[in-house]
Amino acid sequence: MDTKRIRLSDATAGMLVAEDVVNDVGQLIFPAEARLTDKAIARMQFHSIHYLRIYLEDEGEHKEESDVDDLSYFEKLRESEEFNDFNEQFSNVALTFEQEMMRVLKEGGDTDSQSLSNGVKKILSSCRSGIQVFDLLHCTRSYDEVVFAHSLNVAIISAVLGGWLGFSMEDIDMLIQCGIYHDIGKLAVPKEILEKPGALTPDEYAVMRTHTTLGYGILKDMNLDRRVKLAAMMHHERCDGTGYPLGVKENQIERLTKVIAIADVYEAMTAPRKYRKARCPFEAIKMFESSGLALFDTKYLMTFIEHMASCYMGYRVRLNDGTIGTIVYMNKQDNTKPMIQVGSQYIDLFRNPKVYIEEIL
Ligand SMILES: [Fe+2]
Repeated sequence: MDTKRIRLSDATAGMLVAEDVVNDVGQLIFPAEARLTDKAIARMQFHSIHYLRIYLEDEGEHKEESDVDDLSYFEKLRESEEFNDFNEQFSNVALTFEQEMMRVLKEGGDTDSQSLSNGVKKILSSCRSGIQVFDLLHCTRSYDEVVFAHSLNVAIISAVLGGWLGFSMEDIDMLIQCGIYHDIGKLAVPKEILEKPGALTPDEYAVMRTHTTLGYGILKDMNLDRRVKLAAMMHHERCDGTGYPLGVKENQIERLTKVIAIADVYEAMTAPRKYRKARCPFEAIKMFESSGLALFDTKYLMTFIEHMASCYMGYRVRLNDGTIGTIVYMNKQDNTKPMIQVGSQYIDLFRNPKVYIEEIL
């Protein structure tokens, strides 16, 4: 396919990018072979990108593709006005957050945690339900952002989980702030480690783990609640004492940090990475059920798993054997094994251990 170099001001969402877009220090801002979004364009503006190379696609061919009525739920959602509003609000808060953190790290001074938290609350209040937030988040995700978008996602997921747990508004506000700042120490980790595509060596992993103490160091003298600083320090601690940096146990981990830990791991598991596709929420739930019960607060984790799984009732899914069907009944004994309707037939995943949900459509 032919390509063309265009000005960023002429770029529009949907264009297929032909070459990696990098900033002036060589950091990957947007990958080749991916379609532009409004959020990606805003990010390029922020990084002072002036030109990019796109594919010249046959318009007819592209139109025909988008005219197909059999779009998946997520494809339809991505084309909706609701998603555009969500995406715009999310991008604005992410950009403000990024700019503010860069300023604070360079010049020092305080951070406006309340206005960032209000931005997240506004995003949440424009969504119809908890699960719709997850669906919209699923559509905004791009793998080139490891700190700012991830942190906002964690803030949003934590707020939803706080709501499911019946937390007070004050606690939910604080959860949002904990989520926003929890990974701030990653800004002090060398980029080649932070953005390395693939597994880290043991030495690199040791450096990566310091983002917890580095984060606490960045936040400690700022005008933030103590719980926000503790979340930066302790969000990788685990209830059985196997976490880091301190290796403390359940009763020594701050209550809100325990919520952040679940949201952080769920976000990381289900986000796309340069070296792998996004994992299906059911795969993440399965991992939580099989190995998470000793690591996380049991009550918080069970509430999260049950709400997450039951929210997908009525969704179309693809099974690992290629079958496409609809979730019609949840199984309380195993949240990852619901009953699936395929035409007039029913498949009980609980009785078919080899069959599992591979993708939500
Ligand atoms: Fe972290």
